[in-house]
Amino acid sequence: MFKRDHTCTELTIEDVNKEVNLCGWVNKRRDHGSMIFIDLRDRYGLCQLVFDPDISSDAQEIAKQLRNEWVIYAKGIVSKRNPGMENKKMETGEIEIKVNFISILSKSKPTPFPIFDDQTTTSEELRLKYRYLDLRRKEIMEKIEMRSKSMLTIRNFLNEHNFLEVNTPILCKSTPEGARDYLVPSRIYPGNYYALPQSPQIFKQLLMIGGTDRYFQLAQCFRDEDLRADRQPEFTQIDIEMSFAKKEDIFNLCENMLKDLFKKCLDVDIQTPFKKLSYDEAMDKYGSDKPDLRYNMEFLDLKDLIKNSTFSVFLDAIKNNNSIKGFIIENGQDLSRKKLDKYEEFAKNFNLKGLSNIRLTNESIKSNISKFFTQKQLEDLTKSLKMKENDVLLIACDKKEIVNQALDHLRRKVAKDRNLIKEKDYKFLWIVDFPLFEKDENENRLKSCHHPFTSPHFDEMDKLDTDPINVKAEAYDLVLNGYEIAGGSQRIHDSKVQNKIFELLNLSKEDISKKFGFFIDALSYGTPPHLGIAFGFDRLNMILSNTDNIRDVIAFPKTLKALDLMMQSPSLVSDDQLKELSISSIENKEITWE
Ligand code: AMO
Repeated sequence: MFKRDHTCTELTIEDVNKEVNLCGWVNKRRDHGSMIFIDLRDRYGLCQLVFDPDISSDAQEIAKQLRNEWVIYAKGIVSKRNPGMENKKMETGEIEIKVNFISILSKSKPTPFPIFDDQTTTSEELRLKYRYLDLRRKEIMEKIEMRSKSMLTIRNFLNEHNFLEVNTPILCKSTPEGARDYLVPSRIYPGNYYALPQSPQIFKQLLMIGGTDRYFQLAQCFRDEDLRADRQPEFTQIDIEMSFAKKEDIFNLCENMLKDLFKKCLDVDIQTPFKKLSYDEAMDKYGSDKPDLRYNMEFLDLKDLIKNSTFSVFLDAIKNNNSIKGFIIENGQDLSRKKLDKYEEFAKNFNLKGLSNIRLTNESIKSNISKFFTQKQLEDLTKSLKMKENDVLLIACDKKEIVNQALDHLRRKVAKDRNLIKEKDYKFLWIVDFPLFEKDENENRLKSCHHPFTSPHFDEMDKLDTDPINVKAEAYDLVLNGYEIAGGSQRIHDSKVQNKIFELLNLSKEDISKKFGFFIDALSYGTPPHLGIAFGFDRLNMILSNTDNIRDVIAFPKTLKALDLMMQSPSLVSDDQLKELSISSIENKEITWE
């Protein structure tokens, strides 16, 4: 028997003398002999129950048996706590419930880890194995609540702006988004496979051809790729597409959507319009197409300033047209040689052979490469760079890609190590003018930087025939605090251009027709100019919830090795199931679960 008329955090001093019915979990029990205290917990928080034998000896007897995580129902009177017994840390710390009736709704085995909010020593593996217990912790539930709130805010915003929410299939044909597909065998058609969508890209374009005009979907996407702290094999996109609109319309829409989101979810006013950088500028200044702009340390091209040194590494680099770049760390008086050596070791993880430094102290200019410079050259260099006292210049020299990658990682590390990142600082940045193609290193052919439906830059269509690798794309990414949170583009809406792109991607006529025949056909039935974008909803939530672990914002995530530790999947299936699908397994290897 139970009844519930209040949640644990609803009651205040205003409710004193009211009889209330509460349900929840035993968070903690304190037995003070005659009096027993229970912190009762539900999704909303905690409320103190008091068991006093003078009020109900039956209730007190039951309270003696209670253990953590048992589920109970309690009826009692809201009372003001005795003076001095208030708990300022607790939302309901001014009151307590004097219980006159209790019933145990469900018992719990001792849990593999405590559910108290302040416990942080439990391994993530154990928490994921018992995710349903982990979800009871306030820290995790708050993130799930934020996810729900942000989902609703975005849905409402897009609905108010005339976007139709349309669901697209999960069993579909593979769409080329750059990752490996998850495949699903067809029982009815032996040897044939569906693919789980890497994104609903083709469907949203078909919806535009179908006249939907404005579409959105909170779409589940599936990609079999190497996982990282901000990547899951199964993730959610806020997928958007618009017809008869321009890039600026998408930028405005996204900026206003994020303004609304950050105001409603975090009460933060974000500044619009967002800053824009071309891909080339971003790579030059930050070595990355997703730079974190919460701190400076912009890269400096040092070739000209360094060309007169006698350091053969620099001279060779100049001869071979390699990069010599660096950035300045301000207030680096604490950066001892040992600390700088550690940064050099770190940079070597990214294939950089060495890291030079030049330090301006109050007495002199110090450097690990000073013997290759005259004093005058060093003075000129620090002056040209407007270096101030205690500035430390780090210098990297190698192939452009290596320098960019190493300095990008180093810049992020230095910012973290030196606490350069302010709380609640949100720096948005549009990256535009991406290249349309990149070279597939293994196969020495072109591949799309975004996806093959991205329009070449409107002014560069002619270059497709003569110089395709240098054609820019009408593509854009949105970066927030160093994370790529969204990507999109103007689409090709002319079947001839689409065909041409497939040809440049080295697809044979037969392949094009087999894989995309329906799509090229669809494009030739009156296609509106259209464009769109997709946000990584999980990544956005990582930032809203102030975590750098994507698993924290997903109710049932997979590990970095793509395992579901709770359900223990993936798993072997029976021979009968395989037979039905006409699959003969080459290798059956059961996963060993701890
Ligand atoms: P893209 O591949 O850039 O574009 O994906 C859009 C956004 O989705 C997020 N994202 C991921 N999040 C978590 N785990 C992953 N494995 C993962 N992969 C991507 C990123 C990314 O910016 N169809 C196009 C969009 C379009 O052109 O409209 C697409 O999917 O935040």
